[in-house]
Amino acid sequence: MPSETRVPENVDGKYFVTAACIDCDTCRCIGPAHFRRSAERGYSYVCLQPATPAEVEQVEEAMQCCPVGAIVAEDIDSPNGGLSSRLSTQTGGAEEVSILGINGSLRERSCSFRALEHAMNLVSDMGCKTEIFDVRRAHLPFCNGNRTDPRPEFPEVSALRRLVSNAHGLILATPEYHGGMSGVLKNVLDLLDIEHLEGKVVGCISVLGGQQNSNALNDLRQVIRWCHGWVIPEQVAIPRSADVLSGNCDWNAELLERFGEFASSLVLATRKLAGLHPVVAAPRPHTPVAAPAFQAANHNGIGRQQTLVQVYAI
Ligand SMILES: Cc1cc2nc3c(=O)[nH]c(=O)nc-3n(C[C@H](O)[C@H](O)[C@H](O)COP(=O)(O)O)c2cc1C
Ligand code: SF4
Repeated sequence: MPSETRVPENVDGKYFVTAACIDCDTCRCIGPAHFRRSAERGYSYVCLQPATPAEVEQVEEAMQCCPVGAIVAEDIDSPNGGLSSRLSTQTGGAEEVSILGINGSLRERSCSFRALEHAMNLVSDMGCKTEIFDVRRAHLPFCNGNRTDPRPEFPEVSALRRLVSNAHGLILATPEYHGGMSGVLKNVLDLLDIEHLEGKVVGCISVLGGQQNSNALNDLRQVIRWCHGWVIPEQVAIPRSADVLSGNCDWNAELLERFGEFASSLVLATRKLAGLHPVVAAPRPHTPVAAPAFQAANHNGIGRQQTLVQVYAI
């Protein structure tokens, strides 16, 4: 049975489960009244169509959380009877490009997080929809080797997979740890699979305590390629993070330019791969200023108009 095929047990109506179902139980936990398991065949099906707005919300949530996009909503109001699903919004005709940022340090005063925020602000200025998955706020388990396990006791695994699947492009920012990406970010990538990462355009940023090198960036590049993502050639490595943190460095303008090129390339490549109009506005210039005094590390309070140095002033 092709994966796009509805399983026969679905009741008639807008929502249905396809043969892509991997019997993960997520939908049945979210909407037990609407999804049931076929014990004989080992998959879910829609046993009751939602009637009230609250029920629709529940079924839509299950649709969003389904790790393989097996729950589909038929657009019965469309003259073509078109289908809409998680996957169709990923690559469909929507003009808005969505970029998801993921950080790789658990430190509250993380320099790589600040770098990520800066890059996200730039792509937002270029008209992208942006969201950051902040690993410091997420309760993620170690990858347990089960590639399809949705880990119901860790709902953020499903949320992570959904966010990545729905994004057109990603920005990954890691500290360099022992010549590679951090274990935290590698674990995030291990919790994902090719089906979530393939076709994503990915930009990589690293922050180092020592001299500039590309070790962590090469590490990231290799892993993303392995998962069939497209890493852009532009990348940012920020050396001597302690100097950057104190504002004691003289290459802010060069770094700012590099961030600008990085952001433009990411948005352009993402739009091209998504089949959208490739015109990209240049990022707004961010003027370097003297580093302000230490500000309490509250990333929610960091304004979008900040300069790079402010971004790093932690
Ligand atoms: C376990 C560990 C390993 C590290 N390995 C390296 C390294 O190989 N090269 C380097 O330049 N800095 C290394 N550093 C320094 C970090 O890259 C640097 O402190 C960075 O700013 C941390 O990022 P964050 O501020 O986002 O947490 C290491 C730090 C830690 C904790
Ligand atoms: S969430 Fe998706 S994969 Fe999991 S049981 Fe439901 S339909 Fe199947």
